[in-house]
Amino acid sequence: MAASTLREVPGPRGLASLATNWKFMRATGLPHNTIQQVVREHGDVARLNIAGHILYIVSNPDLIQEVFVKRVQEFHKPGVGSDKPRLLTHFLGDGILTADHENWRPQRKLIQPLMHTKQIESYADTMTRFGERLIQQWQHGSQRDIHADMTQVTMEIIAATMFDAPTDSATQVQDAVKLGQAIAVAEITQPIELGGWFVRKKAENIRHVNEQLDSVVQYLLEERRMNSDKERNDLLTLLMNTTDENGKPVSYSFIRNNILTLFVAGHETTANSLTWAFYYLAKNPQIAEKLYHELDTVLAGRAATLADLPHLPYTLMVVKEAMRIEPAVSALTRYITDDTELGGYRLQGDSTIFIPIYQVHHDARWWSQPDVFNPERFAPEEEAKRHKYAYMPFGGGPRVCIGNHFAMMEGHILLATIASRFKVTLADTHEPEPIRLITTFPRHALNVTVEQREPVKVLA
Ligand code: HEM
Repeated sequence: MAASTLREVPGPRGLASLATNWKFMRATGLPHNTIQQVVREHGDVARLNIAGHILYIVSNPDLIQEVFVKRVQEFHKPGVGSDKPRLLTHFLGDGILTADHENWRPQRKLIQPLMHTKQIESYADTMTRFGERLIQQWQHGSQRDIHADMTQVTMEIIAATMFDAPTDSATQVQDAVKLGQAIAVAEITQPIELGGWFVRKKAENIRHVNEQLDSVVQYLLEERRMNSDKERNDLLTLLMNTTDENGKPVSYSFIRNNILTLFVAGHETTANSLTWAFYYLAKNPQIAEKLYHELDTVLAGRAATLADLPHLPYTLMVVKEAMRIEPAVSALTRYITDDTELGGYRLQGDSTIFIPIYQVHHDARWWSQPDVFNPERFAPEEEAKRHKYAYMPFGGGPRVCIGNHFAMMEGHILLATIASRFKVTLADTHEPEPIRLITTFPRHALNVTVEQREPVKVLA
């Protein structure tokens, strides 16, 4: 399109822009209510000027597809365009999640075989085993923090499948991950370079997070050194045996960054998705009953295995709907280096595209009654009618989550195994407050009461 025919991107100006800036500065995490209001008022491509940095909020599925798929080469990972680390590169360096095109490609190629269908299926028994181990600790009528439990079990699963190691460091890692995310998100919502104490405090926090994360890497490498006699086919072996284009072993930071990326990205998101699934089931007893009916019919009180999954379609629909209504990753960003266009609008270089997954998942144009939890939206005939990019908990295009099938299988097995034996109801009277950093988790413990279920005998 000729540059002269391009439209300027609409967005709040003057006082309205000041008010938006204020809301961004004050928010803990991403201020999705403010973003939602901007999208409603200004449409599919909206411009925000946050303390001098331009964010283009792109909320139309066709345009999102353009960014993720058709013109993927033009839009960069957010660390690009700065000579200093930004956002998650503070912690994950140039690993597979954060690297831009050229650096990313060989890493994806290296790790992809671990995520092929057959390979993922070989992880199913581990998922079932850890799910069963968790509920063995649950006493009838007791209270549990469901978020802590989901974090623990998913961390055990990622440690066992990718690193063949046991782990009990959930709390330590969780605190470091939250602080790391808060630092990264503040670089989007409060991009002003403050001096003095603020700079020192930020550097101190980054160092602290990295120390905590490094201790995880040291632990996993140490575990491997102590048990090096066994043949393995996991991520750690793969990374440790990798050589560069000259046949030399890859650097320590290559190994470190990818261990951490897979360890953190590989459990925290699934833990949050399952936490919200249990929350919404507790809020919607009739949906929970439908789930129990399916589980009782197929499992009759036992744990779920890989072979059961095709017979548990409603359970999968519940997982998918939980990831729609509260997507574990609520937004994604891409960096624009040079002036360009999108959807007939002029976009200026050195700015950021912001894909508000949460808003798209709650857009009444694609979802009727978007704030209602309704797994029937994911019946196959309903899914077939929908734009592919109206639902994107895993992003899309070549950078789509490498662990999406792993995560779906894990969510399916864990929800089935747990709900087959236990009913989960809310123990707190107050509503949980979702904090939307890079991932979305409840601000405080999400306490639930767990009650053993007697499977209802279902006549064939
Ligand atoms: C419900 C669970 C999960 C959700 C919602 C989720 C979400 C996402 C999203 C949205 C992205 C795209 C990031 C971007 O485009 O900037 C991503 C990338 C990634 N995810 Fe996941 N993820 C989940 C589970 C997992 C699991 C289980 C693993 C590993 C076993 C994993 C590993 C990764 C990695 C390595 C990337 C970077 C891929 C690349 O850039 O090539 N994720 N994830």
